[in-house]
Amino acid sequence: MDWGLQNRLARIIKPATGRTVMLAVDHGYFLGPTSRIENPRRTIEPLLPHADALMPTRGVLRASVDPATQTPIVLRVSGGTSVIGPSLADEGITTTFEEAIRLNVSAVALSIFVGTDYERQTLLSLADLVNEGQTYGIPVLAVTAVGKELEKRDQRFLSLCCRIAAELGAHLVKTYYCEGFEKVVEGCPVPVVIAGGPKLDTMKDVLQLTHDALSRGAVGVDMGRNIWQSEHPVAAIQSVRAVVHEKATVKQALDLFEDLKATRN
Ligand code: 5RP
Repeated sequence: MDWGLQNRLARIIKPATGRTVMLAVDHGYFLGPTSRIENPRRTIEPLLPHADALMPTRGVLRASVDPATQTPIVLRVSGGTSVIGPSLADEGITTTFEEAIRLNVSAVALSIFVGTDYERQTLLSLADLVNEGQTYGIPVLAVTAVGKELEKRDQRFLSLCCRIAAELGAHLVKTYYCEGFEKVVEGCPVPVVIAGGPKLDTMKDVLQLTHDALSRGAVGVDMGRNIWQSEHPVAAIQSVRAVVHEKATVKQALDLFEDLKATRN
């Protein structure tokens, strides 16, 4: 792997632990003003110092993120659909590589929709991005999207998606946690991070999800709603960090969450 590409990946996956806590804030690109991120700047600002990387679209990056930030940016460059449109899977590439370079990003991200009518289109977009990423030394994160069909999140399907993403050259894959997750990781020869998915009932559930994914081979999380839809988002991201980077148990991280919540978050 080229030096520049390795260097950018090392900004995201921290060499000290080999792990990462990415903060996903790209939901508006198809969901509009999602609950608790109606005002992106207000949501992102207090969380940014605690994130190893931020995943926005270019619109939110420009309008709502301080350009002085030292947090690496993983830029979502796919889109073109909405939650009320005919198909969430019909995505194209929305942002050029030239623009990504101008924005000084550390990686670009797109969704792939395996098993849909748009499988070929989104997989070829991934391959095109990887070709450009190799040229410019910019890693590509592939998101194994399921659209509205959350029930698709099982091991066989996610293994298929992650492996295809890696075969096409993705440098990092984002998927969902599932039963048998270790098989998903085993079959994917590049690092895997998990999405949090819709908000879980309790912080303990979020920390358990994080712990289970990490102990079964994920290198980290790229989490959104389970952090910024928390009543205490800064405490939430800090306790997720404890599991990811300090190998805290769920109980230790939950105790930390309760302490932080009581003091300042
Ligand atoms: C949508 C995405 C989101 O960024 C992703 O789902 C992560 O956020 P959350 O933890 O809220 O699920 O990639 O395709």
